[in-house]
Amino acid sequence: MKNKFEKNILCIGAGYVGGPTMAMIAAKCPQYKVTIVDINEQKIKAWCSDNLPIYEPGLLDVVRTARGRNLFFSTEIEQNIREAEIIFVSVNTPTKSFGEGAGKSADLQYWEKTARNILKASDSDKIIVEKSTLPVRTAGAMERILNSNDKGIVFDVVSNPEFLAEGTAIIDLEYPDRVLIGSHETERGRQARQEIVDIYANWVPRERIITSNIWSSELSKLVSNAFLAQRVSSINSISALCEVTEADVHEVARAVGHDTRIGSKFLHASVGFGGSCFKKDILNLVYISESFGLTEVADYWESVVRINDYQEKRFVLKIIRTMFNTIADKRIAMFGFAFKANTGDTRESPGIYIARQLLDEKAHVIISDPQALQNAQLDMAGIPGKIEYEIDPYKAAEGAHAIALITEWDVYRDLDYKKIFASMEKPAFIFDGRNILNHQKLYEIGFNVYPIGKRALTRI
Ligand SMILES: NC(=O)c1ccc[n+]([C@@H]2O[C@H](COP(=O)([O-])OP(=O)(O)OC[C@H]3O[C@@H](n4cnc5c(N)ncnc54)[C@H](O)[C@@H]3O)[C@@H](O)[C@H]2O)c1
Repeated sequence: MKNKFEKNILCIGAGYVGGPTMAMIAAKCPQYKVTIVDINEQKIKAWCSDNLPIYEPGLLDVVRTARGRNLFFSTEIEQNIREAEIIFVSVNTPTKSFGEGAGKSADLQYWEKTARNILKASDSDKIIVEKSTLPVRTAGAMERILNSNDKGIVFDVVSNPEFLAEGTAIIDLEYPDRVLIGSHETERGRQARQEIVDIYANWVPRERIITSNIWSSELSKLVSNAFLAQRVSSINSISALCEVTEADVHEVARAVGHDTRIGSKFLHASVGFGGSCFKKDILNLVYISESFGLTEVADYWESVVRINDYQEKRFVLKIIRTMFNTIADKRIAMFGFAFKANTGDTRESPGIYIARQLLDEKAHVIISDPQALQNAQLDMAGIPGKIEYEIDPYKAAEGAHAIALITEWDVYRDLDYKKIFASMEKPAFIFDGRNILNHQKLYEIGFNVYPIGKRALTRI
């Protein structure tokens, strides 16, 4: 059925990327019909309500602007494929957990199933947009599957990786640093690429829309995440050195970051990076490099992940050693569980590893987080040990021997730490895994304070 819209855009996969990205396109381009489909019925129901399936500041307003006008959510995949001219594919591409490449390469089963669904349901030419993050050269496989049809239909595959960061997704989508669109450098390829450029040009300044060949586009996404993660691991490795030399990682980062060649962003020492992408995308890069026999390249990038594991491990060891080498039966309140502030997403959060290790040591763990408790419960399901979930940080800290701050939520900066201190067991410890608290003030209240990469302020 034809409708009044200029273009029919479909997105397959209504997750952290598909939902916000398509909601932004719909909000900015009322002339297009944008439909998002997913196999997960519950998720689609939630997208149709005001209780969205993901927490992201500003997202509900954007969804409300367009929902029912030119933005639609559905589980009806086949029919929507048939009606679409442009299909963004935004399904999950996790690290493979089985077989060849397990633990490193991308698991492309959801991706390939989607390609086959598109092939089966289509009866006209379409542009397929890779929105998911994929190993370089995946577009080639997608094209082979899609163009193996005998219906005479032609599919043009274009790469348009997503650079949004969770927690700031709406700002990132509205004012992106760049939008990258890669295609084959053929007449058809360039035409398809232009169609996608035209969509973004509705609100993104033209000079921020970069075009490239398709393989560069696929690879650039992996490399961007690898570079970002590398900066975190770089400063975290230095934080360990600061702790033994009495240098202060904050001062070092400030001095280093003032060099305009280096820049000041992403130089914040912490308990480590998390999130569904950094580790997965680096391991993917490692796997690809290995498969081309580039062992040195693979080793170099793998070390970014190794430092991250080391940083998480160091944090737990510090807790144990500081608390007189035993935390059995001690109450430890975890402030934050999400992998970063302003999201409820806990995928690959350092909180998961830390909570598991604390439970392994027989500690009594109380997890607090303003948005991530539901996900935390799923992550910790079936793990033996004493564990509680408490949204109120004051209650979580009551009777605790220590607080471990895991996520840099603003709410934790401004708590009444005098009140918290009064309700805790003594000596009271605080391990600031994000260096966001006022350490001197906490020390004056009576805490033993352990930041990352800075001198501890202790009374014992
Ligand atoms: N989360 C991020 O911050 C982020 C940022 C940039 C890029 N990416 C990339 O985007 C992709 C999606 O990530 P995400 O975080 O949105 O994942 P997600 O798990 O939140 O969402 C993926 C969705 O795809 C659906 N799906 C899977 N197979 C399907 C099928 N055959 N048909 C219909 N729906 C199907 C799933 O049910 C799920 O809802 C990944 O490749 C990821 O690497 C993620």
